[in-house]
Amino acid sequence: MEIIRSVEWMKQTARAAESAKHLVGFVPTMGALHEGHLSLVRAAKRQCSPVMVSIFVNPAQFGPGEDLEKYPRNFEKDCALLESLGVEYVFAPEASEIYPAGFRTSVRVEGLSEKFEGRVRPGHFQGVCTVVLKLLEIVRPRFAYFGRKDAQQARIVRQMVSDLNLDTEIVVCPIVRESDGLAMSSRNAYLDPAERRAATVLYRSLDAARRKINSGARAAGEILDAVNSTIASEKLAKLDYAELVDADSFERVDFLRGTCLLLLAARVGSTRLIDNMFIDAARDFSVSL
Ligand code: PAF
Repeated sequence: MEIIRSVEWMKQTARAAESAKHLVGFVPTMGALHEGHLSLVRAAKRQCSPVMVSIFVNPAQFGPGEDLEKYPRNFEKDCALLESLGVEYVFAPEASEIYPAGFRTSVRVEGLSEKFEGRVRPGHFQGVCTVVLKLLEIVRPRFAYFGRKDAQQARIVRQMVSDLNLDTEIVVCPIVRESDGLAMSSRNAYLDPAERRAATVLYRSLDAARRKINSGARAAGEILDAVNSTIASEKLAKLDYAELVDADSFERVDFLRGTCLLLLAARVGSTRLIDNMFIDAARDFSVSL
């Protein structure tokens, strides 16, 4: 596995793979890898060769007072995991390589970026889109892999790729959960033991909503009541938002129709966690957690 630090060398390596007609798969990450990331890498390995993974804690997507400084970093361990999965290239640039002095450009997907996570974290998706566009332009992969845990991010990146006619297909992979249901996230590392136990309330509240849907509930109010009351039952948790939205437009819906997402964000102690569930109301109201 080769570790690449410079944009120029990453570009040359990726262009050589492209000229040799290799099918390049790309997994962008901020490191501190867990099974969620590894599931993306495995999906890429099944479809592509070579697989390139970026490890870059992107300062542009952190707001003032957010956790940029304390974001978990585990480069040696990450590389060992990626090597064990047969990843061919890791792109791990310094921030000054991605944002050299004088850098002025940013990318914003209007409409989708200002709501939910974007409302709570102004500028976050602009930072995500800017770095993802740069990475996609450097690597020019055939496929790039994102997790559905960050459903709004995946939707926004897909929109950007379509709007800018990029030659990359965005593949969105299922959420990977701990055995007690907590969605895997690098930020779970911030939870102390009591908070870690309490954090399962996100999954439990989505599961309560699933049970409501399975028993015939179709109105957003009734489904969200199940979420709100479950979160309220956990002292260490504070709901940020729970919303039922159209999976494409991210507009709120009053009744289940088409494909929907139940989006959930809550604080457990001082850690902000997000989760979601996908509902296929167009077919059989089946739910993916
Ligand atoms: O999902 C993440 O880890 C980041 O937002 C991403 C896509 C790697 C961009 O920095």
